[in-house]
Amino acid sequence: MGNGIAHVFAQHDHQVSLIDKDEKALEKGLATIAKNLDRQIEKGIIQAETKDSTLANITPYSDMEKGVKNVAIVVEAATENTELKLEIFRQLDQFSPKEAILATNTSSISITKIAAATSRPDKVIGMHFMNPVPVMQLVEVIKGYKTSEETTHQVMSVAKALEKAPVAVNDYPGFVANRILMPMINEAIYALYEGVSGVQEIDTVMKLGMAHPMGPLQLADFIGLDVCHAILDVLYQGLGNPKYAPCPLLVNMVEAGNKGVKSGEGFYIYS
Ligand code: CAA
Repeated sequence: MGNGIAHVFAQHDHQVSLIDKDEKALEKGLATIAKNLDRQIEKGIIQAETKDSTLANITPYSDMEKGVKNVAIVVEAATENTELKLEIFRQLDQFSPKEAILATNTSSISITKIAAATSRPDKVIGMHFMNPVPVMQLVEVIKGYKTSEETTHQVMSVAKALEKAPVAVNDYPGFVANRILMPMINEAIYALYEGVSGVQEIDTVMKLGMAHPMGPLQLADFIGLDVCHAILDVLYQGLGNPKYAPCPLLVNMVEAGNKGVKSGEGFYIYS
């Protein structure tokens, strides 16, 4: 999601440091941004010049210390691994200006816990974008236990300036988006597991019956089945209710390496 977040900030005239310790990931991210800008031009959403100005606003860095030296806000978008995020936030706290806001795009890890790894928990906040980031309007703005009103207000304003629709929520497992989305996806997987119906049929019911843009099984493939599993674990452990336990079929698929679009196979097969 990092490339999508960088894309949206750069398109709205922010100077963006795109940071990844892996140079290849940086190249891939920039190529994806260019491809998605072309898509926006084809659809008439932006003019051709905007592609150049957007790309010119992005500077890639493989060294975090250099990349965050003069920033006003960081939006971290590493994989959903608590220890990794805590380490990144310790470093962000050390290397970024003391007044910078440190936001995380986590889909379910506690903002309060991440904030506690820093010396500025009042300036740590969740900024949860939805995929595909340049298209989807929502940004969940998650207030940790110690996040200040000022930080929340600033991040709501930043999101509005990006032409997004921010919604403020409190820091409890899954926040709002995944607290509601993941049980639906898990229930769709249970329906398949118990033989109630097939993959296509379950998705068709939700697409044509409930006007969802894509069915829950296809959406799970897009999100990543490992990510769905991880979010359900956070809900299950954090809320202590067995209704959130990941369906055994989901667990098996993840253990078999079928993670959805990114691995080439999930509920559907991708070329
Ligand atoms: N993630 C990543 N890419 C997605 C995506 C998603 N959820 N949904 C659609 N796309 C991609 C498609 O793969 C397609 O890419 P290619 O052309 O390269 O194949 C492109 O977006 C266009 O998709 P469509 O053909 O469906 O085009 P459209 O213009 O009719 O609709 C859309 C685009 C509005 C994004 C629609 O597909 C849609 O609403 N998708 C569902 C989006 C969604 O539910 N997002 C939330 C996911 S949950 C999340 O992000 C947070 C979390 O914590 C888990």
